[in-house]
Amino acid sequence: RSFVAPDRLRALFSTVKMSLEQAKQVAASRAVDEFVTNNCIFGVGSGSTVVYAVQRLAERVETENLKVTCIPTSFQAKQLIVKHKLVLGELDTNPEIDVTIDGADEVDSNLTLIKGGGGCLLQEKIVASCSKKLIVIADYTKDSAKLGDRYKKGIPIEVVPMAYVPIRNKIAALYGGELKLRSAVAKAGPVVTDNGNFILDWLFTNQDLDWETVDRDIKMIPGVVETGLFVKMCHKAYFGHPEGNVVER
Ligand code: 5RP
Repeated sequence: RSFVAPDRLRALFSTVKMSLEQAKQVAASRAVDEFVTNNCIFGVGSGSTVVYAVQRLAERVETENLKVTCIPTSFQAKQLIVKHKLVLGELDTNPEIDVTIDGADEVDSNLTLIKGGGGCLLQEKIVASCSKKLIVIADYTKDSAKLGDRYKKGIPIEVVPMAYVPIRNKIAALYGGELKLRSAVAKAGPVVTDNGNFILDWLFTNQDLDWETVDRDIKMIPGVVETGLFVKMCHKAYFGHPEGNVVER
């Protein structure tokens, strides 16, 4: 029987983690370098990959003396903007965004996205819908042929708390699969979004659905606030690889 010592396992795990971080970082830097220009209104996505994009943006603002107004997609994004002393804007005063850079949980071959792994799908979709361009940054593990090939946690759906049970039943009756109320820790209460709602994670079984129709059908159910399906919204995706190269799609 083979045996791997715990510290070797730990070292292996940390190498894999480091290379994923490197992959996120190269994708984020590439996107910021290509799409952020002086005087632009910039949508700041959410998640761990976006952290690198904001770091790179802060460097460029400092060294190139750029003027960029940042519109956050979440409380996390707002904190990142403030932490890096960038200019914080809002949709009230900047309803048209030049470019938004955001992460994704999965990107299929048509650039359809699953988003909302971090629970910020509603504000992310609002900001994306106000943006001339939505650019996705991700490590290579998010790049897939069909939704569900790689991301196994399902499609997040933000719902009004009082309606989560009927919504769960209606989606299962329409398209099958299983819907789980998201909770941070097993047996703890449900996760509450920045907007005071719950999230259902829809573990769909049919990967060949027309996602545009699915998105529309689900949003017609009263109490559904938004889905994590982003169809025909993404302009370009950058997938970072551990060796430092970036694949564009
Ligand atoms: C949050 C999101 C994130 O962008 C998505 O979960 C990707 O996150 P990460 O960059 O940490 O992998 O949609 O709601």
